[in-house]
Amino acid sequence: MNKTRQADLGTPAVGATETVSVEIDGRQASVRKGTSILRAAREAGVDVPKLCATDSLKPFGSCRLCLVEIEGRKGYPASCTTPVEEGMKIRTQSDALASLRRNVMELYISDHPLDCLTCSANGDCELQDMAGAVGLREVRYGFDGENHLDAEVDASNPYFQFDASKCIVCSRCVRACDEVQGTFALTIEGRGFESKVSAGIGEDFLDSECVSCGACVQACPTATLMEKSIVDHGMPDRKVVTTCAYCGVGCSFQAEMKGDQVVRMTPYKDGQANHGHSCVKGRFAWGYASHRDRVMAPMIREKTSDPWREVSWEEAIAYTAKQFQAIQDKYGRKSIGGITSSRCTNEEVYVVQKLVRAGFGNNNVDTCARVCHSPTGYGLKTTLGTSAGTQPFDSVMDADVIIVIGANPTEGHPVFASQMKRRLRQGAKLIVVDPRKIGLVRSPHIEASYHLDLLPGTNVPIVNALAHVIISEGLADEDYVRERCDLESWESWKTMILKAENSPEEVARVSGVDADKIREAARLYGSAPNGAIYYGLGVTEHSQGSTMVMGMANLAMATGNLGRSGVGVNPLRGQNNVQGSCDMGSFPHELAGYRHISGDEVRNQFEKHWGVTIDPEPGFRIPNMFDAACAGEFKGMYIQGEDLAQSDPNTHHVEAALSSMECIVVQDLFLNETAKFAHVFLPGTSFLEKDGTFINAERRINRVRPVMPAQQGKQEWEITQEVAQAMGYPMNYASSAEIMDEIAELTPTFRNVSFKFLDEVGSVQWPCNDAAPMGTPVMHIDQFVRGKGLFVETDYVPTEERTNRKFPLLLTTGRILSQYNVGAQTRRTANNVWYAEDLLEVHPSDAELRGIQDGQLVSLASRKGDITLRAKITTRVKPGVVYTTFHNPETGANVVTTEYGDWATDCPEYKVTAVQIAPASRRSEWQEEFQARARDQGKIASDAGQ
Ligand code: SF4
Ligand code: SF4
Ligand code: SF4
Ligand code: FES
Repeated sequence: MNKTRQADLGTPAVGATETVSVEIDGRQASVRKGTSILRAAREAGVDVPKLCATDSLKPFGSCRLCLVEIEGRKGYPASCTTPVEEGMKIRTQSDALASLRRNVMELYISDHPLDCLTCSANGDCELQDMAGAVGLREVRYGFDGENHLDAEVDASNPYFQFDASKCIVCSRCVRACDEVQGTFALTIEGRGFESKVSAGIGEDFLDSECVSCGACVQACPTATLMEKSIVDHGMPDRKVVTTCAYCGVGCSFQAEMKGDQVVRMTPYKDGQANHGHSCVKGRFAWGYASHRDRVMAPMIREKTSDPWREVSWEEAIAYTAKQFQAIQDKYGRKSIGGITSSRCTNEEVYVVQKLVRAGFGNNNVDTCARVCHSPTGYGLKTTLGTSAGTQPFDSVMDADVIIVIGANPTEGHPVFASQMKRRLRQGAKLIVVDPRKIGLVRSPHIEASYHLDLLPGTNVPIVNALAHVIISEGLADEDYVRERCDLESWESWKTMILKAENSPEEVARVSGVDADKIREAARLYGSAPNGAIYYGLGVTEHSQGSTMVMGMANLAMATGNLGRSGVGVNPLRGQNNVQGSCDMGSFPHELAGYRHISGDEVRNQFEKHWGVTIDPEPGFRIPNMFDAACAGEFKGMYIQGEDLAQSDPNTHHVEAALSSMECIVVQDLFLNETAKFAHVFLPGTSFLEKDGTFINAERRINRVRPVMPAQQGKQEWEITQEVAQAMGYPMNYASSAEIMDEIAELTPTFRNVSFKFLDEVGSVQWPCNDAAPMGTPVMHIDQFVRGKGLFVETDYVPTEERTNRKFPLLLTTGRILSQYNVGAQTRRTANNVWYAEDLLEVHPSDAELRGIQDGQLVSLASRKGDITLRAKITTRVKPGVVYTTFHNPETGANVVTTEYGDWATDCPEYKVTAVQIAPASRRSEWQEEFQARARDQGKIASDAGQ
């Protein structure tokens, strides 16, 4: 059998705690009530043959291979669909059973190509295994009758193929798509001999509804649905369990290797965030790690107009240190800083912030979370006492009413979306608050009870109106509030919330959402036994991002929806390690574990450990760094894995700031847009080479294990450590495990965390310390981390970005499933077949008014700049709102976004920009300049031998 195959107990585990006693082939077993005989037998070490059953799917009972005998019962029941009962005596082997199973197998095999030795699934095929298990030696029916052996192969999907000639119509794929993924893309067409798996009438996989999650491929017991990488390279011979490096779900995967090559990533069944499921990115889009664009040698150049020069690591590091020291000598200690990356491990992030604080001697460190979830940190810490989401993902299975605000989980957090959709199919109710008709509003077997399609920028009035209804209609949980919350703040918040301006009727005027809909949605959430809120960047990336986070926390506290399973306020984090990069002390005002830099006690603790004096003054945030650079006061930046030039708002301002600096060091896999302004390029490692930890949206600390050595010669923490040493600061870790040990020692919420512990337990959710040795899945159970929950008044202050006659539309932005953020990784994979360019969604009435046709090039102009992109005419957006993604650098979506930001954290207001659109005949000036620069960069890169 294939060495990487994961154990399969045949049917899912049951939730019951009560057990029954049974006898299986003479062995006594104690089994949870409701367990199938098949699973009970496998748990007891007795392998009953099976084909249509697998433990990720409900039993189906179609193949008749798992038949057993039960004492006192007639016939041969299917063990996968028959639950155990107290005192049952089961026989799994007898002559009669053997003969029945052989007959079944004979029928399968008579319509199956017998090319096992050359089949790509050889050694990993359950049909092959079962033929052996039932002792099939000959096939009496011959192969001359009607069969499916010449059925065509559908190779349209870039990552897997469908070879119908090998299909045994077990329906596992169809059920996986329905039950696990929730897309319902597959059906069994026809009956009897004519039955076949279909991805849509007359459609191939690529043109169908399929979202390439891979669940069907994983479930298929034969080579019918098979990864093309396995067809090309053969079966893996070893595996390493690691964590996906894309989104904040943090799925665990088995990286399956053949020699030193990754041939497949399969979702890991014991992964506590994903339970064996995946999305197209983590499952298939890992080829970027070995893409030819990847830079493998350090490079330097004195001026950005010079060609890059490949140098040794020693020279690159010495040059970096010399440049930074020269800048500090000339412009002062605070003239340089660093940015940490949410794509890097905690250990890599920690050493960068330490380089800044201990090596540079200032607190000019910030992280890319500044531009996504910094309001989450501020808002949840202020109200509840900790800068993190409150629940594990599994908690959604206990929710009765789910509110999704400013998030698009099926595109941005697909594996969690599948779990949420499972709960919705079980009957939980859904309220979507989003300007756009996201997939969850209506998809197979799911329909939101209410879609509050608000105008971008009006989250705060909507959350206030929901609270207004809850308070005015007596739906608040007064007992909970009295026991758990700060009552003074409760009273003043109630006074604010009951003001007429927060009534649904008033809010309908500013938000564009019908007042009755607001009222009914509030009643639904307010009267739910368990109400859960999930939100994304559509909440945080606003001028009132922090206000809105606090507004949601207020709502949850007022209704008693915090502190148990099924409830909570949950940020869906964008990047894989946003939570971790914030936890590690990347913000200019906080040391690891969110402790303010001005606190003498905590600073002394770090000073003692690090052997330096730490500046008690907070340093610059990213926007302050840019402003200071434009003012000539900030001259050098160490940028870890973050493409500021593409991902930060108001591109013209960012480019002006970057151009004015004297030494920009970029540490990344590829020459990204920011590298065009850089003087030193330090090649980084992909997640397949990293050794460390990521922390997902549920505070889960997951191990990232190297499946191959660092391809450019050094781990990223080693590079940073050598820069620190070259600048005279003695940083001397021998491994990333040692870095985690230091983090644990200095951070109370991580006290019991170590690589050894994680390897033993799989993963753990912080806080993990003596008070919670196995971690903390649900936060705030008995009391809030801050003690009493604090209600904060959330008056609505409209953004200064307003529409007018010149810019009458509102632009908002988001992501799509197949691409990821600035696209540096996914654009270097076959995922481009689904989305090669950013499109502008326009409502038909806005398009008609301007004479815009579907697919036409249009100009998109704001007060900050203009770009062109293709129009997609759709009713997903409402009149007056346009929408685009930002995955392609050549689109330059941030050329048009503004410098407005969240009042508390400076998180940019990406989600609201006043714009005008018009038909265009050519690309914008910025885009032409961009293309010219890209051509130059290509020339320089090829001069440097890239
Ligand atoms: S494609 Fe695979 S999983 Fe689907 S019915 Fe055929 S054999 Fe079963
Ligand atoms: S890859 Fe996923 S979405 Fe596509 S058919 Fe298979 S299970 Fe369904
Ligand atoms: S859901 Fe997120 S973490 Fe999971 S496989 Fe997809 S991208 Fe990776
Ligand atoms: S495994 Fe039980 S009927 Fe197929």
